[in-house]
Amino acid sequence: MASSLTISVILGVLWAAILLSFATTVTAAYPSPLESEAIALLESRWWSNHSSNTSQRCQWPGITCNTAESITKINLSDAPNIEVGDRFGKLNFSSFPNLVLLDLSDHQIRGKIPHQIGDLSALKYLDLSSCGLSGELPPSLGKLTQLEFLDISYNDNINGSIPPQLGNLENLVTLNLSQCGIVGRIPSALGQLTSLQSLILSGNQINGSIPLEIGYLRNLTFLGLYNNRLVDSIPITLYQLTNLEILYLDNNQLQGSIPSCVGSLSKMQDLSLGSNLLKGPIPQEICNLANLTSLYLSQNKLTGSIPSCIGSLSKMLDLSLGSNLLKGPIPQEICNLANLTFLDLSQNKLTGSIPSCIGSLSKMLDLSLGSNLLKGSIPKEIGKLFDLSNLNLSFNQLSGPIPILSATHLYIVDAGNGCEKIFPDPFEGNSDLSPYMCPTPVTEKANSSRIPYYIKIFLPIAILFTFSILGCLLCSRFKLKNNHVSVQPTKNGDLCSIWDYDGKIAYEDIVAATEDFDFRYCIGVGGYGSVYKAKLPCGKVVALKKLHHLEAENPTFDKSFRNEIKFLSEIRHRNIVKLHGFCLHRRSMFLIYEYMEKGSLFCNLRDEVNAVDMDWTKRVEIIKGIAHALSYLHHDCCPPIVHRDISSNNVLLNSSFEAFVADFGTARMLDLDSSNKTIIVGTYGYVAPVLEW
Ligand SMILES: *[C@@H]1O[C@H](CO)[C@@H](O)[C@H](O)[C@H]1NC(C)=O
Ligand SMILES: *[C@@H]1O[C@H](CO)[C@@H](O)[C@H](O)[C@H]1NC(C)=O
Ligand SMILES: *[C@@H]1O[C@H](CO)[C@@H](O)[C@H](O)[C@H]1NC(C)=O
Ligand SMILES: *[C@@H]1O[C@H](CO)[C@@H](O)[C@H](O)[C@H]1NC(C)=O
Ligand SMILES: *[C@@H]1O[C@H](CO)[C@@H](O)[C@H](O)[C@H]1NC(C)=O
Ligand SMILES: *[C@@H]1O[C@H](CO)[C@@H](O)[C@H](O)[C@H]1NC(C)=O
Ligand SMILES: *[C@@H]1O[C@H](CO)[C@@H](O)[C@H](O)[C@H]1NC(C)=O
Ligand SMILES: *[C@@H]1O[C@H](CO)[C@@H](O)[C@H](O)[C@H]1NC(C)=O
Ligand SMILES: *[C@@H]1O[C@H](CO)[C@@H](O)[C@H](O)[C@H]1NC(C)=O
Ligand SMILES: *[C@@H]1O[C@H](CO)[C@@H](O)[C@H](O)[C@H]1NC(C)=O
Ligand SMILES: *[C@@H]1O[C@H](CO)[C@@H](O)[C@H](O)[C@H]1NC(C)=O
Repeated sequence: MASSLTISVILGVLWAAILLSFATTVTAAYPSPLESEAIALLESRWWSNHSSNTSQRCQWPGITCNTAESITKINLSDAPNIEVGDRFGKLNFSSFPNLVLLDLSDHQIRGKIPHQIGDLSALKYLDLSSCGLSGELPPSLGKLTQLEFLDISYNDNINGSIPPQLGNLENLVTLNLSQCGIVGRIPSALGQLTSLQSLILSGNQINGSIPLEIGYLRNLTFLGLYNNRLVDSIPITLYQLTNLEILYLDNNQLQGSIPSCVGSLSKMQDLSLGSNLLKGPIPQEICNLANLTSLYLSQNKLTGSIPSCIGSLSKMLDLSLGSNLLKGPIPQEICNLANLTFLDLSQNKLTGSIPSCIGSLSKMLDLSLGSNLLKGSIPKEIGKLFDLSNLNLSFNQLSGPIPILSATHLYIVDAGNGCEKIFPDPFEGNSDLSPYMCPTPVTEKANSSRIPYYIKIFLPIAILFTFSILGCLLCSRFKLKNNHVSVQPTKNGDLCSIWDYDGKIAYEDIVAATEDFDFRYCIGVGGYGSVYKAKLPCGKVVALKKLHHLEAENPTFDKSFRNEIKFLSEIRHRNIVKLHGFCLHRRSMFLIYEYMEKGSLFCNLRDEVNAVDMDWTKRVEIIKGIAHALSYLHHDCCPPIVHRDISSNNVLLNSSFEAFVADFGTARMLDLDSSNKTIIVGTYGYVAPVLEW
């Protein structure tokens, strides 16, 4: 009995000793906080391709340590080769008590945001945008109470709703959850985030109404809730957010009206309420928002008229009120918006005429007034809008002539196939010029019968004008006040059209500049014509390509000449020779081009001295220029244009050896249906492959 007791005591002591020694070894092996960081980094294998020597971890890409060598930042923005991959959850988050910044944006992480992310107790900045994340947002994010910046945007496969626990992040200044596939409602708990300045939840499938608690976020400057499924009216509390500069609520199903208290958002710069179900009038008080640069109210059911006080919003750049039920006239005051570049009033019930003062909005790029009840003529002042690239006046009740526009191109959108048909085609239907390029002879010829014809044909179709600001480049004495197109009927009733000039230059000037095409001004003779160099009264030097008298009567040459005008008057590209005008005088037909100092590529290559001048860099640039021009013709023109005769003869060089594709005599628009009927044209050896189908 005693011996057994002794044995058990000894055993007990032994056990205790073993246990104790085990405990001490365990304590000794338990890593220090710094060692834990090292182990966690190693085990995460995020840097496995880079290094396994953790004693240098503070130098690993993307890692920043404090003086005690504890990790404070992991920012992989500059470390694209660090592959987190599907190992996001492998990081032991509780091993980083000093981590304040984690930026994994644009790294393909895949998988879910691990619940343990809530263990990063010191974190202030978390950027997981564009990481290919999926699954739900973990409620543990609400434990990151130090967080100031949270961006999980652009992770399309995230699902589930916004965890209400995010309302605990009372230090949050920025919350960006846009484009995340989030569903459900906006939790009213977000109203507790009183430090918030930017709240962006756009591009999700958030439904329900906007919680009125959002109105508690008094420091908000940017609220983006667009592209969701929000319903009900905009809570009145939102209009208390007097620090708001940007408010995007567009593309939802918001109802109700815009209340007059919108006028208290005095710092507003960008207000976007479009594509909703808003009713009622645009309140006058909107004109209090003196810093407004963009107002987008399109695609609602707004009624009433456009408040004329809108003309006091002098910083306005974009004004979109289209697709509403607005009535009344376009207020003259709109012309006070001197910096306006985009004006969309289309698809309303606006009446009256287009104010001619609109021509003073010199920065205008896009003007859409289509589908209204506008009457009267198109003010010729629109021709002064030199930057205008889109003009849509279709589906109105406009009458009278289409004025001469600065546009060297005028597009008509073919409603049938959505393809932009190029206009004017000076020769469509007849050999006359279009009345828009030469109004005088046409109004003389057939005033009342002709104009309705064009209006009938062209006005119901969408009209777009695109133009390039070539005028200034062209002629130093160029005057904005004058029309760009000069059309002078000549004795025989033939026409000259010279654009980009100050209206006074015409056939007579060209004749004078070349002393009636004197041989002294001739710089080349080609197959069907001669090329002359002419110095115009304004100092500009141009090249004139003139058909020989005999050739002018040859229908083949005549056709190719007209073809060249047709194409070159429509297309503009820095590597395509510019046509400045043309003259179709029965006896002397000529084209006016930009003058190319170095002549054709062919001549330069043939001449030994010039060929040496053209080093490989220049040659590569020339080839690039030609390629750009061809790419433009084939891919940017609609329908595509095929030149069909690209040869070194038809590439011209300017003084700095830049290449310009010329000679569109045989070019045509690509019409796939008729390609099998094509006759082969062009210089042998250079024929475009498209014709050999
Ligand atoms: C790790 O780096 C340290 C410091 O450069 C060096 O002394 C050590 O030998 C390295 N260890 C290994 C296993 O490469
Ligand atoms: C992350 O690193 C990049 C590149 O060094 C830097 O531009 C960026 O500001 C850093 N991010 C943060 C939040 O400091
Ligand atoms: C990292 O290593 C893995 C496996 O060794 C390899 O498949 C991967 O391409 C490497 N990544 C980089 C960026 O070197
Ligand atoms: C993570 O690290 C903490 C502290 O460093 C440690 O207590 C814990 O056991 C670790 N967890 C895992 C799964 O390694
Ligand atoms: C949410 O995403 C996860 C991970 O992709 C998926 O397993 C789950 O089925 C999704 N849930 C819903 C409701 O779509
Ligand atoms: C999310 O929004 C914030 C605040 O506007 C912005 O700084 C950040 O760049 C946005 N994130 C992305 C990926 O655009
Ligand atoms: C809002 O979306 C959630 C999740 O898709 C859905 O369950 C709920 O029925 C929706 N509510 C409404 C009012 O549409
Ligand atoms: C709101 O902003 C003001 C001025 O920047 C600041 O003094 C105030 O503390 C902020 N409010 C909150 C709740 O952060
Ligand atoms: C409008 O903007 C200007 C310049 O950015 C600023 O000084 C002014 O305070 C702003 N006005 C309001 C009412 O916020
Ligand atoms: C119009 O734009 C110009 C140039 O951007 C700017 O200097 C001017 O202040 C703007 N005018 C108004 C009224 O905002
Ligand atoms: C021009 O306006 C009409 C009517 O508003 C519209 O149907 C058409 O699509 C517009 N054309 C273009 C090219 O935007």
